[in-house]
Amino acid sequence: MKPDELKKSSQAEIRARFDQDVERFSNLETGQQTTMDAPLTMELTTAAAFSLNPKAKAILDIGCGAGNYTLTMLGKIPDLDCTLIDLSLPMLERARSRVGCQTSGRVEIVQGDILETSLPQQQFDVVLAAAVLHHLRLDADWETVFRKIFLALKPGGSFWISDLIVHDSAALNTLFNKRYAAYLIELGGADYQQKVFDYIEKEDTPRSINFQLELMKRVGFTETEVLHKNGCFAAFGGVKPISMP
Ligand SMILES: C[S@@+](CC[C@H](N)C(=O)[O-])C[C@H]1O[C@@H](n2cnc3c(N)ncnc32)[C@H](O)[C@@H]1O
Repeated sequence: MKPDELKKSSQAEIRARFDQDVERFSNLETGQQTTMDAPLTMELTTAAAFSLNPKAKAILDIGCGAGNYTLTMLGKIPDLDCTLIDLSLPMLERARSRVGCQTSGRVEIVQGDILETSLPQQQFDVVLAAAVLHHLRLDADWETVFRKIFLALKPGGSFWISDLIVHDSAALNTLFNKRYAAYLIELGGADYQQKVFDYIEKEDTPRSINFQLELMKRVGFTETEVLHKNGCFAAFGGVKPISMP
């Protein structure tokens, strides 16, 4: 790993932090307030998945937390089979109990790091990944994960990301970091803003929208789309072609 990436939190540290944070991720109405436009991006990604895959039978929620994205998806397509992956067992247990009440489909929980977890091939109509992929460190890790998601989707299936992003221009990073700082100060004051910036510095290695859309194309997604962007947060995704060349 590069020296900067070595200083970042380990998987065990990330898991320990989220183990303590189940309540904060269990609010369906507000989503996570540190994420700008969290309720809107949850609505847009699941609405996009519904419009492309209205007859979906099976979804995969990566970094499911307490299950908010899957619950929102079930509000649009009932009785899906739901596979929920997370590092944190307390998150998964909360997600299983919340999701299990809302679907007559199968609910499977998988505890693990998405980088190491093997996925079945051509099983899912929809894959959702919200506020999780920014924990991937190396470009090669991002490629490994995008490739396995592509293979895990059925032909015609779709993959939707809502996440913290960076910009390819340093000047734009500065601009949008300032705007995000102002948003956090308004939400919780200067100490809260500093706390959030400190854990982003310690824990996160986000990539730009361009990087992720280009990677989607490289692994085989044909159509990609940006659904929303506000400062350092965006929602976007890709569709797996129905027939492969
Ligand atoms: C910020 S929370 C988001 C939860 C949920 N997606 C939401 O938007 O409400 C991120 C979740 O991803 C999980 N996570 C972090 N890194 C992960 C990894 N490498 N593999 C699987 N899950 C991971 C954390 O344990 C946490 O529950």
